[in-house]
Amino acid sequence: MRIIRTIREMQQQAEAWRRSGEVIVLVPTMGYFHAGHLALMRHARSLGTLVGVSLFVNPTQFAPTEDLTSYPRDFDRDRRLAEEVGVDFMFVPEAGAMYPSGFQTQVEVTELTRPLCGATRPTHFRGVTTVVAKLFNIVKPHAAVFGRKDYQQLMAVQRMVRDLNMEVTVVGHPIVREADGLAMSSRNQYLTPDQRRRALVLSAALDRARQVFAGGEVRSAVLIEGVREAIGKVPEVRLDYAELRDPETMAALERIDRPALLAIAAFVGKARLLDNVVLTPSA
Ligand code: PAJ
Repeated sequence: MRIIRTIREMQQQAEAWRRSGEVIVLVPTMGYFHAGHLALMRHARSLGTLVGVSLFVNPTQFAPTEDLTSYPRDFDRDRRLAEEVGVDFMFVPEAGAMYPSGFQTQVEVTELTRPLCGATRPTHFRGVTTVVAKLFNIVKPHAAVFGRKDYQQLMAVQRMVRDLNMEVTVVGHPIVREADGLAMSSRNQYLTPDQRRRALVLSAALDRARQVFAGGEVRSAVLIEGVREAIGKVPEVRLDYAELRDPETMAALERIDRPALLAIAAFVGKARLLDNVVLTPSA
């Protein structure tokens, strides 16, 4: 597996690969790999001839009060795991090269990034879309894989690609979970064993909502109240939001008469965790 650290080398290599007919698939990451990241890399394998992973803890998507400096990092482990999965190259740039002095351009998807995580983290998605646009320009992938755990992020990237006519196919991958249901996240690392147990209420509450929906309940207010109640009972878990929204536009939904994204975010100790499920009415 090749490690590429400079933007210039990455761009030249990508150009040469494209000219010789390779199909490049990129998995953008911030490292500290878990089985979710590895599943994205395996899926990338099936979409092209060369799989690349970018590893960059992007400072511009963290607010000053957030966990940029404590974000977990272990490059040697990440390199080994990526190599085991058969990744062909890793692009690992320096922050100073990605954001040299004078940098002042932002890519912002304005509407669908406002609610949900955008309400709590108002500058977050602009950091994400800007760095992903840069990564697309540097790695020049034909396709890129993103997880549905960060559903709003996936939608923002898809919107950006459409709006800016980028020639990249953005592919979503299902949420990968621990055996007990907890959605995998690099931030699960922050949880104590007790908090880890309590965090299970997130996936359990979504599961319960799915059952209630399957039983015929289509009113958002009722489904959301169920989630709030379940999470409210667990000490040390503080709900940030629980909302039902259109999965593509992120517009709020009063009732489920078409597919609906039930998305939640909650603080558990030091970690802010996300989970979601798409509820689809049967025909
Ligand atoms: P990161 O949190 O490292 O996630 C990298 C990719 O892995 C994202 O597409 C994310 O949705 C996906 N992922 C994480 N946990 C997952 C899980 N349990 N199941 C499925 N997919 C999962 O997301 C980012 O990095 C950054 O915002 C980035 C896009 C790299 C831009 O900096």
